[in-house]
Amino acid sequence: MITTRSSVDAAVNIADLRRLARKRAHKMVFDYIDGGAEDEQTLRRNSAAFAGHRLIHKVLTGVDHVDPSITLLGECLPVPFILSPAAGNRLFHIEGERAVAKAANDIGTVYSLSTLSSVSIEDVAKLTAAPKWFQLYVWKDRALVKKMLDRAKGAGFTALILTADFPIAGQRERDIRNGFTIPPTVGPKQLIEAMRRPAWSWDYLRSEKIRYANISEDTSAVSLSDFVAEQLHTGFNWDDAQWVLDAWGGPALLKGVMHPADAQRARNMGFAAVAISNHGGRQLDGEAAPLDVLPAIRHSVGPDFPLILDGGVRRGSDVLKALLIGANAVSFARPYLYGLAAAGFHGVQRALNILSEELKLSMALAGLVDLKTLSPDMLIRPSGGVPKSRKAYNDG
Ligand SMILES: Cc1cc2nc3c(=O)[nH]c(=O)nc-3n(C[C@H](O)[C@H](O)[C@H](O)COP(=O)(O)O)c2cc1C
Repeated sequence: MITTRSSVDAAVNIADLRRLARKRAHKMVFDYIDGGAEDEQTLRRNSAAFAGHRLIHKVLTGVDHVDPSITLLGECLPVPFILSPAAGNRLFHIEGERAVAKAANDIGTVYSLSTLSSVSIEDVAKLTAAPKWFQLYVWKDRALVKKMLDRAKGAGFTALILTADFPIAGQRERDIRNGFTIPPTVGPKQLIEAMRRPAWSWDYLRSEKIRYANISEDTSAVSLSDFVAEQLHTGFNWDDAQWVLDAWGGPALLKGVMHPADAQRARNMGFAAVAISNHGGRQLDGEAAPLDVLPAIRHSVGPDFPLILDGGVRRGSDVLKALLIGANAVSFARPYLYGLAAAGFHGVQRALNILSEELKLSMALAGLVDLKTLSPDMLIRPSGGVPKSRKAYNDG
């Protein structure tokens, strides 16, 4: 099936975009985006955690104007969500990271570029005037890390995201079964699947070679497993994180934090924010959902420290729930990656518009005109309890 713009426009929600992505993309590519580690318990739990929380609306608040804007790390953003970093986007669709950066620019929110992007730091930087953050996986060779940080800074990336939940790669069983690598290895199995997905295959054949655009000059690693084996610093620890903070010398977020003590330590050592995340269920299986640990992390870092929640967000009402529980913003990857795999730029744009419109609708129906003063008594937690306010978490 060739996904047309009109079928993407007709997508009503993120689940529709997921279905379109599955129809257009090669199976191994769809599974790489969609899948998680081992039994995918963490993956499922991330979304299910949202369903377990129940909103309570207020009435007669006058919702003719609903404003979902927020301020995050000094940036005024029109929506309370940002785009999580994701590797190798040109494999999903020929337009790759370029499409995602342009769609982020159009909606005016933060684009996060992965270390393992398939378009270079400098090329992506030109495509969005909205704030852009650079995500770092830490290599063994500090000189190479420093070089990459300097490139990101020079290209106008204003904050650094240090990903800490990837000391080694999780076991993604769909990828193992599919024989998936970046760049792809093409054997009989992949060829048969490629014939079933002509639009994706045509793109792949005419695309410039898929490669890790930021690191290819500096490493002989050509696949993710090579990269992990050759360059990933598995011994990475808090001292190294301090070194990264000093080397960057600007605002930095620690991504992949799930334990309250780690969030507190990150705040104390000078990180500007923490991204509560389990890598979208792609690393440790059997883990709690980010939403489950948000109250304890809010309690540990106090009311004012910025927290971004990432993992399982698929609806505007999910965004609202995370903010009511104490996040300052959310971020996501699969929603926009489904859009990308379905239809390139228009698909990403559709994903961001769907979430933005759903959020505004949820706010109006909940009786909220803005996100400045959120009353935690508008939500019931799975235990049946109403969460405490951001301030109350701090007070205990
Ligand atoms: C295909 C794919 C590639 C990813 N690549 C990266 C990456 O390069 N760096 C990173 O920090 N996180 C990466 N992630 C994790 C996301 O940034 C994010 O934490 C996670 O996907 C959030 O869950 P969600 O997809 O349910 O929104 C990736 C996720 C996916 C789905």
